Amino acid sequence: MSIISKDISKAVELLSNEELVAIPTETVYGLAGNIYSEKAITAIFETKQRPFFNPLIVHIPSVDYLDKIVASIPEKARLLADVFWPGPITLVLKKKNTIPDLITGGKDTVAVRIPNHPTILELLNQLSFPLAAPSANPFSGISPTTAEHVEAYFKDKIKMVLDGGPCKKGIESTIIGFENDEPIIYRLGSTSIEDIESVVGSVEVKNKKEVTPNSPGMLERHYAPKTKTVLTDNLRKSITEHQGKRIGLLLYNDILNDDAIEFKIVLTQDQDLEEAASKLYDALHQLDKHDLDIIIAERLPNYGLGKSINDRLIRATKQ
Ligand code: TXA
Ligand code: MG
Repeated sequence: MSIISKDISKAVELLSNEELVAIPTETVYGLAGNIYSEKAITAIFETKQRPFFNPLIVHIPSVDYLDKIVASIPEKARLLADVFWPGPITLVLKKKNTIPDLITGGKDTVAVRIPNHPTILELLNQLSFPLAAPSANPFSGISPTTAEHVEAYFKDKIKMVLDGGPCKKGIESTIIGFENDEPIIYRLGSTSIEDIESVVGSVEVKNKKEVTPNSPGMLERHYAPKTKTVLTDNLRKSITEHQGKRIGLLLYNDILNDDAIEFKIVLTQDQDLEEAASKLYDALHQLDKHDLDIIIAERLPNYGLGKSINDRLIRATKQ
């Protein structure tokens, strides 16, 4: 029997009994549990096979709730919350002592966001506690953007996926921390740097391997298909290099017709980067099912959400 259901009250019951429920958000599906339940939080790490040092994002229903979670809020954090929440921005702020160390990997900061999806907002409003929710994929795997993706990963291990349809944004939230009260981007994501800078002025990006201690989700190999995947600026050349293999293509633009190609997916017909982001993970899930020798992914333009998509593709192609 399918574990996919639209029944919010069932999700409330399970979560209140310290069980896990996979939840929809506008970015990707999350694997959620009560932040105050040691049993639920431990189960999140075990189900994902995620190392305990890698902290979780806390999902709250409204800005008022922030004061229960964090000890202080820099002015620019307040500004970002006002403009972008509910939405795909996660703020890393000094935590209150009441936030369990298990959530934060022992750090004195906590990552928090208000997701923008009617189903999870309804759910959060019915619960008396916030939800910790990492993306609902096994550690390092491709994040899920449909209830079916989650079911395929975890059907024997969790009781329910709350179905909210396909995620509209399709890649994770942008994570912003603060150093001397100034915003620093720790993870590129569904809110573009340009949009963030239009609100708080120029921001530094520390989205590299060096910041692994700050945001372990930035471990180099991540978001990765099982099939060997390469990223290219020159499709023709890459196809020639892999002649004779079963090739799958992930294309930004549909410009190529080639008999050597087993399977291809075009992310957008009219250079719409939002559309490309929303389709990215589903495309990788599909390509990964096609028994290919290699996936060749075309690099996107390096601005707006193109930057975030390229970041995910780079991590997907690391050996
Ligand atoms: O869009 C999203 O953010 C999704 C949905 C479900 O909300 N969640 C998500 O969670 O992507 P996850 O666990 O896959 O990624 C969370 C990232 C990790 O890279 C983690 O290291 C970072 O947030 N993080 C969490 N707490 C942190 C903290 N205190 N300081 C720095 N980074 C933190
Ligand atoms: Mg993740």
